[in-house]
Amino acid sequence: MNILITAGPTREPIDPVRFLSNRSSGKMGYALAQAAVERGHEVTLITGPTCLTPPATARVLPVETAMEMLDATLRSLDGINAAILCAAVSDYRPANPSPTKLKRSKNTPDSLALVENPDILATLGHLQTRNFFLAGFAAETDNVANNAKDKLRKKNCDMIVANLVGKSGTGFEADDNEVVVFMKSGEQVELPRLSKHDVAHAILAIIEKH
Ligand code: CTP
Repeated sequence: MNILITAGPTREPIDPVRFLSNRSSGKMGYALAQAAVERGHEVTLITGPTCLTPPATARVLPVETAMEMLDATLRSLDGINAAILCAAVSDYRPANPSPTKLKRSKNTPDSLALVENPDILATLGHLQTRNFFLAGFAAETDNVANNAKDKLRKKNCDMIVANLVGKSGTGFEADDNEVVVFMKSGEQVELPRLSKHDVAHAILAIIEKH
């Protein structure tokens, strides 16, 4: 298959030296890219800034912001069979990023105006014609099943891989993950705690079956 994967965090500039971001390391997305290559698939990896090395044969498109990630994703849809959106996209960006470094001033700024970023997964989910399998992730600190099913419905995708974050050893920045896969059909697959590499293989096996 031709598989598109998004990975890592996005960075939303406040000024040329500061940004809003999140704790995503990119490990889950890169593990998916690696496992997909190992399973013989063609991979396009659209990645926010990470310290990781992508698989040598993947086509890699580095991006910084959510807007750049959306643009790179929309331009890469031709001929894909599946999209797995694993990136931790910032939901908001500063409304007026400064072109020059903001200086410390006597008047502490009391707010930072934000505007909403597009939801890349929902954008793909609501395309007029979609002929590829669409998978998303849901990183939750609580109420995992309900939040995941909600995202599956609202973002109109075929599968949501949900994981609990904030638990030590799994989720953000960790090497292991413990996920539950929710399918559009209502089917639910609980995977045990595994390395992200093994979680990636299990997710790809499910996608291949569908
Ligand atoms: N996602 C996306 N674009 C966004 C936000 C999220 O494509 N602007 C995708 C993520 O890549 C992931 C899924 O949507 O596959 C769920 O991301 P998550 O951050 O858990 O969900 P949100 O919709 O941002 O909901 P909330 O932060 O309220 O939990």
